[in-house]
Parts: sequence; C-alpha cells; structure tokens
Amino acid sequence: MDYKVKDISLAEKGQKKLDWATHNMPIIAIIRERFKKEKPFAGKRIACCLHVTKETGVLMLALKDGGAEVSLAGSNPLSTQDDVSAALAKNGIKVFAWRGVNNEEYYECLNHALEIKPHVTIDDGADLVNLIQTKKQDLLKDIIAGQEETTTGVIRLRAMAADGALMYPVVAVNDTPTKHLFDNRYGTGQSTIDGIIRASNILLAGKTFVVAGYGWCGRGLASRARGMGANVIITEIDPVKAIEANMDGFRVMPMIEAAPIGDVFVTATGCKDVISRKHFEVMKGGAILANTGHFDVEINAKELRQMGSKDEILDNVEVVTLKDGRKIFLLAEGRLVNLAAAEGHPSEVMDQSFSDQALVAEWIVKQGSNLEKKVYDVPKEIDDMVALLKLKSEGIKIDELTPEQDKYLNDWREGT
Ligand code: ADE
Repeated sequence: MDYKVKDISLAEKGQKKLDWATHNMPIIAIIRERFKKEKPFAGKRIACCLHVTKETGVLMLALKDGGAEVSLAGSNPLSTQDDVSAALAKNGIKVFAWRGVNNEEYYECLNHALEIKPHVTIDDGADLVNLIQTKKQDLLKDIIAGQEETTTGVIRLRAMAADGALMYPVVAVNDTPTKHLFDNRYGTGQSTIDGIIRASNILLAGKTFVVAGYGWCGRGLASRARGMGANVIITEIDPVKAIEANMDGFRVMPMIEAAPIGDVFVTATGCKDVISRKHFEVMKGGAILANTGHFDVEINAKELRQMGSKDEILDNVEVVTLKDGRKIFLLAEGRLVNLAAAEGHPSEVMDQSFSDQALVAEWIVKQGSNLEKKVYDVPKEIDDMVALLKLKSEGIKIDELTPEQDKYLNDWREGT
C-alpha cells in the first residue's frame, strides 16, 4: 500500500503548510540541496514514526531528495495534521497517518510503515523499535540502525540496552545539545502555552501555574509561563533539579501541596500518575489540566473520569463534574497538548532537531555494519555543524581562538 490518509483532497492546503515550514527551516534546506546532488541514501529505505506535522514533512522530503524510499506513520493518535499527511502522500512519501486513530489503527499504520523493510528507523517514542523487536524480528537483518527523537523514547531505549534487550544500534538524537537545549526548552515552552491557549483561550497572567518536572521541557515551560505573568510552582522528584528550580526563582513543593492552590497544571515528566485521584480530591473547582509529555499516562484521566461525569465542552476541552460539584477541565484527553491542540514546536526550532536527524541518518548509512547494538550519542561534528549553520542562518558571527589561546587552553603547565 502506498498511503492511507484521512482525505487526499487536503493535499493542496498541506502543500502550502510544507512550503511555509520550508521557508522557516534554512538549515535543513542547505542539507537538502547537498542531498539532492550527493544522494547519500540511494537504494536505502527509511521508516519513520514521527508526529506528522509540516516540519516532519520537510525532513521526509529531504530524505527522499537524498535518494531514500521513505515511509511515515504518526507517533501519537492526536498529533497528525491531516492536510500535511495528504500533501506528503502526493509527494511520494508512503504515509500512514490520520488524526484520531484508535489503538488498533495506530499499530496498523506502524505495520504499514515497516512494509518497506527499512535500513534505518526514525522514532519519536521508540514504538518502531519496540514493534520490530517484539513482533517483526525478521526485519532485523536489513536494519543498520535507528534514531530516537524524544526523551521518553531514549529512556526506554537505555533501559533496553541496560537489560541487554536492544537488538540493533540506535542514536539518541534527543540527547544532543542542538536538539534538547532548544527544541525541548524553547520549543516545548512555547508550543505548550500555544496549545493551552488555543484550546481554552484563558488568560495566564495572575494564574497559579503548576509545572510537574523541571527537565528541559519543564524549564522552558516554566520560564514562558512566568513571562506571561503566571505565578509558577514546580514539582520535582530530583533534588538537584528542585534546587535549580528554586534558585531560578520558582516555588517548589510536592504535588499534593500544589494541588489545592493551582489554577493550571501541566505535566512534563515522562512518568505515570503524576496527577491522580488524591490530587483531584483536593483541587479547586475550575482547575485546568494538561500534559506535554510523550505518553498520556502522566495525568490519570481514567481515575478522574471515574470520579464524576464527563462532557466535551469545546474542541480539546473535556470537563469532569465531580460528585461535590467541582469541575475539573482536562485538555486534549491528557495527550501532548502542544501537538494535539496546537501545531507542535515552531519550524525554526525543529529545523535544528530535524537537521540533526537528517545528518545522523547519513552518518548511519556511512557506518554500515560497524555499529554495535547500543545507544549512541550524536557525533560531535554533526552537533557543531548544525550549530554553525544555525548561526549562519541568523547572520550571527562568533570569535575564533587565536593559536596562542588554543595552546593556553590545552596546556596545563601555564599557571598564575
Ligand atoms: N515535536 C514537537 N513539535 C514537533 C513538530 N512541530 N514536528 C514534529 N515533531 C514535533
């Protein structure tokens, strides 16, 4: 099958979005021009499981221009942009994705994406790796390596590697500085606020805004919420991150103490049951809950719904009326609010992440069978190249070390 999308007639609208993203992604544009000439992926097949957005679309086209046969499944039931998916199908990408897939359809799409028998996999959440390792081991013989885009996926892969259960090499693109310092921090920071506002149109100024988790995503979100005038509280389980949050000027407390005072709660932890029954029991009526982590396990929506009656009041806003009359609002079913209720991170920041992905795919193909079954970091040269191209695209120049300075930094003998 070549594609399965919601409505192929949406392709024209999707193409305009792809063009707009291309315009805002100058780094990958440079890489794509080189790929067109050098064809680093000639004869290679790349299967992807990513959020189907206009930015992902630009990456897919760059890989295809580099000579690859490319397939794409969505990496979350609510993150696919149907117009983009239609436009990609028209551009010859084997895309299997539509917004609102159920669990069975989700895996049907992943299975279709794997029909190309990939040499390289690109994941956002490690679902392709999981599926291949558990149900499709016949594909392992063709696979050179995989790549992982998100924190949650890297956590799963490192756990597999520690258990000796990882069956092919994977590169942790999420962990490279040009990815997480910008995408996780500034991308998630902005797009999560965007999702909350598009869903609810609430005013953030003056609200008590609780962020669960002070990793790169939580840090970015907390700083953006503060910038909008919210009073931000951080909850953490890591003592060092908790000190950092405190010194960054935020109040830090356990979720059970934040629950009765928060107006808006956002989870950004990668962990399950961060907000659950005991918290719902003490929340103020009117509290708004959202999640920006990869899986919909951070807010226990099932427990919330069991505690009262549920109604959908706006697109992406569900209300649960508790037995005592308090109303708790849940955005985007507790799925990642930035992609389900908005369009994900802006193109400019995805430009860096997806340039990393494009160059890592090229690196994997060059390595061939030299790689071991472990989690690799992105090679430093790739990270530096993406950073330099970003600076160039912004017209920013930086200093270079003189030979004397270089010597000074590398010579431990020179002292006071
Ligand atoms: N993850 C977060 N934002 C994204 C975007 N715009 N495209 C793809 N993946 C994303």
